[in-house]
Amino acid sequence: MRIVTGSEEETKKAGFRLGTVLKRLSRGCTVFLYGEMGAGKTTFIKGFASAFGILEKDIGSASFVIVAEYETSPPFYHIDLYRINKAEDVDALGIWDYIDSDGIAVIEWAERLSEIPENAIKVRINYIDENSREIITEGVDEEDRHYMQGRKVGTC
Ligand SMILES: Nc1ncnc2c1ncn2[C@@H]1O[C@H](COP(=O)(O)OP(=O)(O)O)[C@@H](O)[C@H]1O
Ligand SMILES: [Mg+2]
Repeated sequence: MRIVTGSEEETKKAGFRLGTVLKRLSRGCTVFLYGEMGAGKTTFIKGFASAFGILEKDIGSASFVIVAEYETSPPFYHIDLYRINKAEDVDALGIWDYIDSDGIAVIEWAERLSEIPENAIKVRINYIDENSREIITEGVDEEDRHYMQGRKVGTC
């Protein structure tokens, strides 16, 4: 699925929609987020996290913290691998435990991982111009994709 956003707010909305979809799953899952510096990964996560009731100001934009845990239901984990260079560091930090947990994890700089699970949810954000970004999502069910595109689906 591909959408183009024309502002920071629209990227947050796209994040919020994915967050809403994944929050209602009764199992843990991980979103692998790709994109250059300044693409809008943290912006997307601010919207995603707002689906969990987390305030934007509580989502870090600097990459000083590698894992931020939020005691929401389900738990939310914001992981930023920007400063990670080696696969061993990923292992040492226990990143795989978050990926396999019952919570919802979103990983910035997923390019730093040597492998990711099959059928993983992947979101790639590409810079188009100053205010526009392309957001490509893989691994989300058709019905949920429709929801994320703002189309009404189902009977409820
Ligand atoms: N359509 C857009 N979507 C997301 N961010 C945008 C958009 N247009 C402009 N921006 C700006 O781009 C920057 C993205 O920063 P950030 O989310 O921290 O990127 P990253 O985490 O990928 O390094 C912000 O300053 C934001 O205001
Ligand atoms: Mg970031």
